[in-house]
Amino acid sequence: MKVSIIGGAGRVGSTAAYTLVNLGLVDEIYLLDIAKERAAGEALDITHSLSGMNSDVVVEGGDDYAGVRGSDVVMITAGVPRKPGMSRLDLRHKNVGIIRDVVRNVIAECKDALLFVVSNPVDVLTYHAWQESGLDEERVFGLGTLLDTLRLKSMLKKRLGIGYEEEAYIFGEHGDSMLPVFRLRGNHPREELMRVFDEVREGAAKVIETKGATWFAPAVAIAKVIEAVRQGGVYPVSTFIEEHQLYLGHLAEISRNGVRSVDFELTEEEARLFQRSVETVRSAIEDV
Ligand code: APR
Repeated sequence: MKVSIIGGAGRVGSTAAYTLVNLGLVDEIYLLDIAKERAAGEALDITHSLSGMNSDVVVEGGDDYAGVRGSDVVMITAGVPRKPGMSRLDLRHKNVGIIRDVVRNVIAECKDALLFVVSNPVDVLTYHAWQESGLDEERVFGLGTLLDTLRLKSMLKKRLGIGYEEEAYIFGEHGDSMLPVFRLRGNHPREELMRVFDEVREGAAKVIETKGATWFAPAVAIAKVIEAVRQGGVYPVSTFIEEHQLYLGHLAEISRNGVRSVDFELTEEEARLFQRSVETVRSAIEDV
């Protein structure tokens, strides 16, 4: 499997590349970035690790879109990241322009790949990537709330000892209006669960305040998606919501053919919160 990463010289893109190689999920990676020297440098650094990992993955880097030809997945991490105090939605004006430009270049070289958007605000950018690409809606998707879901599960375990196998998700916008969806077997006080959810919703901003950006958890979430593309899987990612004609975090079936939202019954309260995410993302889409 070949994965190209646009923005591959950045923190999320390069860490994702390293994680994919480390987990043996790919045969070939192309890191494309306007910072072409750095992209080549990241590719060489990863290449130097291959003998120690007993891997013969081909990793290259540069700024030439011809390098994405033959990709099974083209992932986009290009764009400007948040600074302390910014919301993801604050990035939209800059990043929509970048995404449209990137997608145009990718499609000119490679129409068969799945388009996987990671840059933020991911739900808004995935919509614009889909529009620009002319691809079927299930061939374009975003990382979305899988990242928040992994963060939630990690912290439910750490704070409350709730096992990773328990059913807990975050749906909706990968942003301030996200909502928790708990389907736990045990009896856990709602306030305790909500405290962990609140901590997670603010969690990325905390990390940004301290180390400037987040990259380890995003890279692992990306690897889960690539693994699911290879062998199939069901995760909450930014997927096309037929009823609303936009992309939002919801449980979806992921395969080589792309991503398709699956039926999932929400409580009345969850449905109300999901609707709030729909409205937030819709107005952000219309505002760019
Ligand atoms: N084409 C290709 N690469 C680009 C372009 C472009 N038009 N514009 C920017 N880039 C590259 C930058 O050169 C940089 O290497 O995108 C990369 C972004 O990397 P970082 O600044 O390190 O940002 P990072 O922390 O990796 O976050 C990237 O992922 O999680 C999201 O919110 C985050 O939107 C942000 C994205």
